[in-house]
Amino acid sequence: MCGIVGYAGPDRESSRGLEVVLEGLARLEYRGYDSAGVAVVTGGGIATQKRAGRLSRLTSALQERPLPGGSAAVGHTRWATHGGPTDANAHPHVSPDGSVALIHNGIIENYAALRAELGEGGAVFLSETDTEVVAHLLAAEISTAGSRGGAQALAAAMRAVCQRLEGSFTLLVVHADAPGVVVGARRNSPLVVGLGDGENYLGSDVSAFISRTKRALELGQDQVVTITADEVGVTDLDGAAVDATPYTVDWDADAAEKGGFPWFMAKEIHEQPRAVADTLLGRSDASGAMTLDEMHVDPSVLRAIDKIIVVACGTAAFAGHVAKYAIEHWCRVPVEVDLAHEFRYRDPVLTHRTLVVAISQSGETMDLVMAVRHAREQGSKVLAICNTRGSTIPRESDAALYTHAGPEIAVASTKAFLSQVAACYLLGLYLAQLRGNLFPDEVATLVAQLRDVPDAVQTVVDAADEVRELARELVDSPTVLFLGRHVGYPVALEGALKLKELAYIHAEGFAAGELKHGPIALVEPGVPVFVIVPSPRGRDQLHAKVLSNAAEVRARGARTIAIAEVGDDAVLDHADVVIRVPAVPTLMAPLVTVVPLQIFAMEVATAKGYDVDQPRNLAKSVTVE
Ligand code: F6R
Repeated sequence: MCGIVGYAGPDRESSRGLEVVLEGLARLEYRGYDSAGVAVVTGGGIATQKRAGRLSRLTSALQERPLPGGSAAVGHTRWATHGGPTDANAHPHVSPDGSVALIHNGIIENYAALRAELGEGGAVFLSETDTEVVAHLLAAEISTAGSRGGAQALAAAMRAVCQRLEGSFTLLVVHADAPGVVVGARRNSPLVVGLGDGENYLGSDVSAFISRTKRALELGQDQVVTITADEVGVTDLDGAAVDATPYTVDWDADAAEKGGFPWFMAKEIHEQPRAVADTLLGRSDASGAMTLDEMHVDPSVLRAIDKIIVVACGTAAFAGHVAKYAIEHWCRVPVEVDLAHEFRYRDPVLTHRTLVVAISQSGETMDLVMAVRHAREQGSKVLAICNTRGSTIPRESDAALYTHAGPEIAVASTKAFLSQVAACYLLGLYLAQLRGNLFPDEVATLVAQLRDVPDAVQTVVDAADEVRELARELVDSPTVLFLGRHVGYPVALEGALKLKELAYIHAEGFAAGELKHGPIALVEPGVPVFVIVPSPRGRDQLHAKVLSNAAEVRARGARTIAIAEVGDDAVLDHADVVIRVPAVPTLMAPLVTVVPLQIFAMEVATAKGYDVDQPRNLAKSVTVE
């Protein structure tokens, strides 16, 4: 939430800083798009421009009133929390004396007390934000310390002010008397450093500067960073120097471009076969044995675990729901799935024999950060399944299994979901191998089946025309329902979530067997019902049971759309439309059955004229609780 960019370079006259910051904001706009703003430290002080609305409104304003050049610049794209999306509430916020410009991601939880305190001293506020108090505090701190400006003074003021703040924040500040300097700080919100040649960068994530450098530094909790053109210095809040961890980003700027697709989401759907294949790559050997080198949890601990709790939010939680079916089946260990924001507050039973699996694309979802901390405090081991290197959740976990989906820019998660599910299968197979629940040849067979799945996903991605047509036909539906059993149930939930968030249509996913316990009352003539049909080759009459549920809704007039395996003829008697997917093993079916639902939601939203990549009220990476 909220995108943050900072630039420090050598040239006090140049417009390069502003260009770098605007390009970074364009790449970060997916994090929030309520308003945008920039500040530049010029020869004559600080110049700012900010606008409510999309970044394009800011760039138009900058064309009408260009800002002078400068050697330090910061930029912000906002997802509003405190105060609506107005010009006044947009960042940067400038101190009353005009010396300080500040941008912020997160929530300052004690801002009301600080604002009251400053108000007693006569401070006047121009916005309703929690951020503006910090700009006041920083300017006051610098003037009290008696040393105006300068990198050292600015960093010292940032450390002192951060000690007074509660909540979560990434802050970037520039000062009129400190040309070429940006100071940043982070607590519970993301901030990474980009190491350039003769210039340096800061960003909420590496996409802010990926076209300039792939060399980055991870920053830890409660650290303050100072960048100039040639130097990067990191300290803790007491001013002690800290060695930040360097890393190299393993994708390039092209990965963060649309590459000819109308939407990032369309591109990311097309990247799914690769995302799954890359996530599987190098995690098993030629004999089909699992080799998860990054599982830095003692095998004896993993052998002893008596419960797994998967914790995540939204789409990632649905990936965890799929994991439950696979891991319980393969490993015979109970798996619970919990929404991260419920987990901590329900006082879950956690012991040193519980493995907590935290799934997150961004690695920054605040509800999950808090869940991870809680689990570790209780003595449980935490494994992160994450797509973003250097992010908070893997850093704070005992081990991390990275998905290799590449950057996911569209707000609605697609390729991250598939790669999370694939990573969960890897975890399940690894644990089954380690704990002796499966014989080596069984593991090898499942690994081989998994390696075939990317081709099956490709087949579904390539066969989108029918789904597109269906989307045009159903574009005006007020309600759409999704039914599934077993691993089809989380797929139904995900199909409904995609349609809600992109097309703003009331959509609900149900366990198909639950229908007759209430939800079937929603079915009336013409209502579209998607039914995720399991393979007829599967066990436990699952297929027959789901077809019965399809028949029940069809008998009540629903327009029934089945997602069914190629060659499943029985489905033809129970569906008005059949979308075919290739045959894959039952437990792996979500990787193919979810794809038509993603495409459906995207196409309905497109037909309605909505912005698919940036749906209303949402932002990628939810860094507030
Ligand atoms: C929905 C979606 C969200 C995220 C959720 C978790 O399309 O993208 O539901 O899945 O906010 O985000 P991460 O995976 O970054 O923790």
